[in-house]
Amino acid sequence: MNLHHVIEAQQFDVPTMLKLFDTAAKMETVVAGGGITDYQNRIMATLFYEPSTRTRFSFETAMHRLGGHVISTENAAEFSSVAKGETLEDTIRILNGYADVIVIRHKEVGSAKRAAAVSRVPVINAGDGAGQHPTQALLDLYTIRKEIGTIDGLRIAMVGDLAQGRTVRSLAYLLSKFRGVTMYFVAPPLLKMKEDILEHLREHKVSFVEETALDKVLPEVDVVYQTRVQKERFGDRIADYEKCRGVYIINQDTLRGMKPKSIIMHPLPRLEEITMEVDEDPRAAYFRQAQNGLYVRMALLTHVLK
Ligand code: CP
Repeated sequence: MNLHHVIEAQQFDVPTMLKLFDTAAKMETVVAGGGITDYQNRIMATLFYEPSTRTRFSFETAMHRLGGHVISTENAAEFSSVAKGETLEDTIRILNGYADVIVIRHKEVGSAKRAAAVSRVPVINAGDGAGQHPTQALLDLYTIRKEIGTIDGLRIAMVGDLAQGRTVRSLAYLLSKFRGVTMYFVAPPLLKMKEDILEHLREHKVSFVEETALDKVLPEVDVVYQTRVQKERFGDRIADYEKCRGVYIINQDTLRGMKPKSIIMHPLPRLEEITMEVDEDPRAAYFRQAQNGLYVRMALLTHVLK
């Protein structure tokens, strides 16, 4: 497997994903043993222009568990020289002189691609606005495989903010590579899955259904992938946000409508869209999913740092 920049989900084929998942499974043992020192001469730079808990901490933990080092800034928009007017491209050129891999999160769609265009060292997209979040989608698939046993034939409902959610976009691209998958896109009219994804699915003859009623699809699916309505992407459209928030809430009633062997996933953070009482149900997989992010990101780092 030859992996350098990680920019978008479309670049992954099934053999590459399966190889990564094998490495991620080995990383579970590595973490249980306290980590390794193999990457002690390697440095990862994390450049986050948007807030993050999981992606940033799991990447940084991943590098530490591999024995490597991390350089970072608390808030790239405020504390890097971007605040003085430096371009993203110049920032990346400079980091090329210091780090062996750069992990970037930015508010603009296409920013990771711009960074990769001027970078000798691997650039990993940790989320570019409402564009993509490929490493999240990889850990999502790893979780599905671990929890359900297979990805082929999966029936999955993606719920909530499908228009602005980058995780569901990347996940749809990855799932389209597997056999017999059916996706149910459950969203209010304002937050429907974007046409570029639907067109990709039609082109690749992947089965999908657009739906507004979550109750209708619950008994059909193996995975309910809930998402947060992203207030920060509405700008001054507060009335639209208020119209869309709270439309789909997963609670005890929802659990009663789901299959006993199904799971609930969420890229997190969650607000009101999954009530706390659901956390106790064995089908609530979202905290296990976040934990898997560490193993998958360790696997990714070992492959791009070869
Ligand atoms: N899932 C995810 O990207 O979470 P963070 O925003 O906390 O990194």
